[in-house]
Amino acid sequence: MLLRDFISGARLALTSAEAMSPGYPAEESKALVARLCKEVLGVESYTHIIEPGFEIPAIQEPVLQDALRRLLKGEPLQYILGYEYFMDRRFNVSPAVLIPRPETEILCREALALSREGDRALDLCTGSGCIAWTLSLAGLETVGVDISPEALAIASSQPFDGPSPKFLLKDVLEGPSGFDEGIFDLIVSNPPYVRESEKALMRTNVLDYEPSLALFVKDADPLVFYNAVASFAKSLLKPGGHGFVEINEALGEETAAVFSAAGFSEVNILRDFNMKMRVVAFQKRP
Ligand SMILES: C[S@@+](CC[C@H](N)C(=O)[O-])C[C@H]1O[C@@H](n2cnc3c(N)ncnc32)[C@H](O)[C@@H]1O
Repeated sequence: MLLRDFISGARLALTSAEAMSPGYPAEESKALVARLCKEVLGVESYTHIIEPGFEIPAIQEPVLQDALRRLLKGEPLQYILGYEYFMDRRFNVSPAVLIPRPETEILCREALALSREGDRALDLCTGSGCIAWTLSLAGLETVGVDISPEALAIASSQPFDGPSPKFLLKDVLEGPSGFDEGIFDLIVSNPPYVRESEKALMRTNVLDYEPSLALFVKDADPLVFYNAVASFAKSLLKPGGHGFVEINEALGEETAAVFSAAGFSEVNILRDFNMKMRVVAFQKRP
């Protein structure tokens, strides 16, 4: 099969995919098909234009067709491939973990800018371990915590050479027992923060495939995880230590208020590339 025929057929099918009713937007279909072809065949997004006679190798055609079939059902491409890139590294993912998002790189960059090699870091709600591994591979002695054994299995299996974070099974909402006080220079978290009522705004491929445990909080208590992080930070951060949490863009001021009320200083809301409130930074008073 010619690459150009696969690409045009796949784009058309995705824009009318029933599972995604009313289908993927045209730009997204184009990007998805280009990425699929890049990952499976190693071709560029323009290969089919400059080489109209490019034939898909017979052995790879079923791989592409199977991936397309799954995309049409709404399955995220990252689960089909089994990986996603984060901070220029390739992380294994499965439906047990949230797919790492580019916005979360902001939290990592800010945290790394204030850290030194050998610092001790705690990542609450670690999921795939993308934040914990990023810190660990930058030379921080890192602990990652999650309530899901399946997520921790993925986090522990990431294929990197270099110092691994220590991963612990723990319910963050039960508080910071089990750790010595004042031992961490840095606490970070990207916890569940989408309110149940916001489900209506979300796409079916997120709702149907990504783990609810990683996403949702009750409308009645949407900041529950930030209160827990503040409690961990109060007891486990060293004086002068820093914290960074990813936040619900609709609850920026309220989330910042949790850390101000808990007595932290330098509480700041950081915005993402779309100018949306994305991270709250705080510091334990020196
Ligand atoms: C939004 S995901 C973040 C994953 C990863 N840190 C990232 O940035 O991609 C939230 C994670 O919190 C975990 N989680 C949910 N409830 C928890 C709890 N009570 N205690 C610890 N972890 C929890 C979920 O299993 C999920 O892995």
